[in-house]
Amino acid sequence: MGIETAAVIGAGAMGHGIAEVLARQCPTVWLHDSSAEVREAAAGRIAASVARLRRHDLISKETARRIPDRIRVTGDLPEATSTAHFVVEAVSENLPLKQELFGTIDGYAPEEAIFATNTSSLRIADVMARVSERRRSHLVGSHFFLPAQIVPLVEVSRTADTDAGVFDRVVALWEACDKEPIRIERDISGYVANRLQRALMGEALALLAEGTASAEDIDRSITQGFGLRFVVRGPLAQRDVAGLDLSAAMRYDDGGRERIDAGRQHLLDLAAAGNLGLKTGRGLLDWAGKDLDSTVADDDEALAETVARMLHRRRLGP
Ligand SMILES: NC(=O)c1ccc[n+]([C@@H]2O[C@H](COP(=O)([O-])OP(=O)(O)OC[C@H]3O[C@@H](n4cnc5c(N)ncnc54)[C@H](O)[C@@H]3O)[C@@H](O)[C@H]2O)c1
Repeated sequence: MGIETAAVIGAGAMGHGIAEVLARQCPTVWLHDSSAEVREAAAGRIAASVARLRRHDLISKETARRIPDRIRVTGDLPEATSTAHFVVEAVSENLPLKQELFGTIDGYAPEEAIFATNTSSLRIADVMARVSERRRSHLVGSHFFLPAQIVPLVEVSRTADTDAGVFDRVVALWEACDKEPIRIERDISGYVANRLQRALMGEALALLAEGTASAEDIDRSITQGFGLRFVVRGPLAQRDVAGLDLSAAMRYDDGGRERIDAGRQHLLDLAAAGNLGLKTGRGLLDWAGKDLDSTVADDDEALAETVARMLHRRRLGP
């Protein structure tokens, strides 16, 4: 069965972007959300984001025209899933909610349909615990990064029961949609990229809590420093380029697990006091006078430009 019809469940921050990605390849993409407000906002969000992708030449004129035509927004879950060859779940990160949803979709979707979850931190086997035994070979993780329509990476993960052909088909689908899938061979919480981000976040919070540098300067060490290098070379290749003899000689006395726990406690204290970040004007940084939507739109614009340059460089070759 080819993947001609897809369904995305949850049309929030991630879901509408995932639907746009699928619409590059699939003639019909159902986009379902239980919230009428989110459904009403979907067409506008898709139009704005397609215009941005086009502005940066990340999609052709023809694809930009096709994407909105192919996405069908619906509040009816059976309508969204009963003809879908591929179902991607992107509802809120809540295990019982996801489990119940997959149990329900299992009863609607065609027998051969593949189920994917965009969960950030949960195991696929847990999220899909209520999916029937006969479909166990057709379950994958498919983890995008915000904004899904701009960031190339998709982490495709499998359980011990996932059929190798199914895993390959999902990887091939994302490639056909112009994404950069990586294969995660074990069903682990947080895949690869979120584990790496978590390690970095733990150290950043510890350094901040200890008063080593300001939040702005800690962030700048990445945005103006080694974060730039990561566009061309990952941390493992970087070790090889620098030489493993250098790595072997380096010694850090950076304390233990308690530092990381203390750093996290700083974040928990801020959140408990109602300082939730950009949306409340104060979090780890001071956001007074900044608006969430326009800040994110500005960042997405810069990100689209960076991805466009990266792809252009790759097309030109070395
Ligand atoms: N935001 C990110 O940066 C990011 C990145 C990668 C993965 N994820 C994961 O993607 C998933 C979605 O995250 P998000 O940021 O898009 O959340 P979000 O809150 O923006 O969107 C979730 C949507 O799910 C809808 N929903 C809730 N219950 C539903 C149900 N039973 N049926 C249909 N729709 C339902 C909500 O109305 C909402 O629109 C989560 O699992 C999250 O962990 C998020």
